[in-house]
Amino acid sequence: MVKKKQSKQVEKIKKTSKSLSLLRGFKDILPEHMKYWQYARNVAHELFSDYGYGQIETPILEQTSLYKRTTGEHTDIVTKEMFSFQDRSGDSISMRPEFTPGIARAYIEHGMLNRPQPVKLYSLGPLFRYDRPQAGRYRQFHQLDFEILGDENPVADAEIIFLSYLFCKKLGLDVVIQINSLGQSESRQEYIKILKEYYKSKRRLLCDDCKTRLTKNTLRLLDCKETGCQDLTQSAPQLIDHIDDDSKQHFVRVLEYLDESEVPYELNPYIVRGLDYYNRTAFEVMPVITRPCDEISLEVAPDFVPKPEPLVQAIGGGGRYDGLIEAIGGRPTAGVGMAFGFERVIEAIRQSGKDKAPVKKPQVFLAQLGEEAAKRIFKLFEVLRESGIQTRVNFSKSGLKQQLELADKLKVPYTVILGQKELLDDTIIIRDMENGIQEVVDLSKVTEELKKRLKSHE
Ligand code: HAM
Repeated sequence: MVKKKQSKQVEKIKKTSKSLSLLRGFKDILPEHMKYWQYARNVAHELFSDYGYGQIETPILEQTSLYKRTTGEHTDIVTKEMFSFQDRSGDSISMRPEFTPGIARAYIEHGMLNRPQPVKLYSLGPLFRYDRPQAGRYRQFHQLDFEILGDENPVADAEIIFLSYLFCKKLGLDVVIQINSLGQSESRQEYIKILKEYYKSKRRLLCDDCKTRLTKNTLRLLDCKETGCQDLTQSAPQLIDHIDDDSKQHFVRVLEYLDESEVPYELNPYIVRGLDYYNRTAFEVMPVITRPCDEISLEVAPDFVPKPEPLVQAIGGGGRYDGLIEAIGGRPTAGVGMAFGFERVIEAIRQSGKDKAPVKKPQVFLAQLGEEAAKRIFKLFEVLRESGIQTRVNFSKSGLKQQLELADKLKVPYTVILGQKELLDDTIIIRDMENGIQEVVDLSKVTEELKKRLKSHE
């Protein structure tokens, strides 16, 4: 009996001490990847401040009804993907699945309507969608989002699209903008009826998801990725032929601005976007995948197995949303904006090989022998850092051999060594890591001596 109890306890301890892992669909960003993140973030901050956008941070938690009334009650995001829960007072709360509704709420709540219009805002941060995890699709991901509120002019749509392009260009990414017009809600409703009729006659050929979409979210059938549904879409009636005249005019003017600014774009009648609030312009930013020359061969060997094509996903998307602010209690206010999926942008930078992310290479390693030397090195580290020298140290290693091995691994051109003798003499040894030559210099002169030597390595 006692034995049984003991073994149960052991089992329990084993279970609780089992190492814990990441939640499915979540991701750690490790220090070795952070350089890409910092680089892309810096480019974003510089670009948006140059163009007069103010940075805004809204809370991660908002009322669930905010997303129901904007993103859309029947959209995938609201029906299946939100992390929602009741807080202690029983209110339904959701972790933000996108920025736009929160930014619109802040615009109303802080009376931004009374500021000079339009108001231009951008934000960068984490979002949460309980999506099916796959490459480029996470449950926690980041967006760079930017919006122009209070401007119905087509030039605002063009500015958002131009900045999307410019951001990619600055990062060395080749992209094309796929663009469509969704018209105004009324003309779209008419079109949806026509589309429903078309797909109804072909219902049995649709995938299961599209069978549900047919009644709840018909437009989304147009961007289903299943081959069977895509084949049907090819001959479906096109939205652009059914939109109202004002929206057509608006669209033409947006395209004229884009032509002027030489943004590469393609008209794509199947872009409908997965959120309810859009009217008129809708667009997505697609990476242009160019295969390296050595992969292209005209002669195909008999046993040739084609490499699977990389999954081409939009790295960003957006559009106009003139009814959104009103839908959440504000005065009628036009809006247009877009968001980049930051993980996808980072992956595109890595794949492009045009990694311009600056990395500061370590220049000097500090090796210490003994407790007293360690204390002095502790202080010296800060002196060198302040003078701009990239310095590394490892206090957990005490032997000189181990420390020199580390310095070798870090590929520093110089190691500074401080032992008992140097401590007494107020000197220090500078070791050239390439040829092993060591020189003794005064401790007070170490910064200038190192700077002199490092100059020849620039
Ligand atoms: P969205 O198309 O839902 O639009 O998301 C924009 C981008 O976020 C996508 O193109 C994609 O790159 C990225 N993204 C979306 N879901 C995931 C995910 N699960 N994992 C990784 N990346 C993801 C919006 O969110 C709108 N609020 C954009 C907007 C701003 N429209 C007007 N203003």
